[in-house]
Amino acid sequence: MSKVLYSATMSLDGYIAGPGGDMSWLRPYLQPNPPVERLQREIGALLVGGRTHRGDDPHRGTDQEGAFEGTWRGPVFVVTRQPSTGGEDVCFVGEPRAGLRAARAAAGDRYVNLLGAELARECLDLGEVDEVLTVIAPVLLGGGTRLFAHPQGRQVRLERLQVQVLPHVTNVWHRVVR
Ligand SMILES: NC(=O)c1ccc[n+]([C@@H]2O[C@H](COP(=O)([O-])OP(=O)(O)OC[C@H]3O[C@@H](n4cnc5c(N)ncnc54)[C@H](OP(=O)(O)O)[C@@H]3O)[C@@H](O)[C@H]2O)c1
Repeated sequence: MSKVLYSATMSLDGYIAGPGGDMSWLRPYLQPNPPVERLQREIGALLVGGRTHRGDDPHRGTDQEGAFEGTWRGPVFVVTRQPSTGGEDVCFVGEPRAGLRAARAAAGDRYVNLLGAELARECLDLGEVDEVLTVIAPVLLGGGTRLFAHPQGRQVRLERLQVQVLPHVTNVWHRVVR
């Protein structure tokens, strides 16, 4: 059975995108990250929010554009109310539950990797997220898209699994406590 992982590179103050969806802040921190490169081989499918799919990319216009700096090869399910044309491995789904079902079926016993904060919040609300990986960059952004935003507040308990300190970022892995 697949596990569902929410992963993001995050500023120290908890943002995964800057104001207006800006992702250029990420560029200095896109350096080799062997644990994340190993993780990529354990991922069977991506489940992506519509805004992430359409959003800014620090590598826009280069061959490194796209998930995992353009190296992702495999199924991508985009949750959106406005399906458009995608690449050959991109499939559009109308809501998160259907997206989770399709992505789990495609991932087999590997991870479904969630990309996008709103999508991840909805999957957390559904009780469908098993792990959270934050790659923490040593930068403050002061505004933008939060890793996890709930207008009324919501507590999600986590148990730390691993911390990997690299020269440019720190990977922090958690398991969601149920
Ligand atoms: N730092 C990182 O590692 C990282 C990783 C991923 C993303 N990001 C950034 O995070 C930002 C995007 O995150 P986000 O939280 O704003 O958005 P998101 O989760 O990527 O996407 C939200 C969108 O998903 C669709 N959606 C969500 N719930 C739905 C539902 N119940 N039914 C149908 N569609 C639904 C809608 O798409 P439509 O609007 O298409 O209908 C909604 O606007 C971008 O700026 C992206 O670049 C950063």
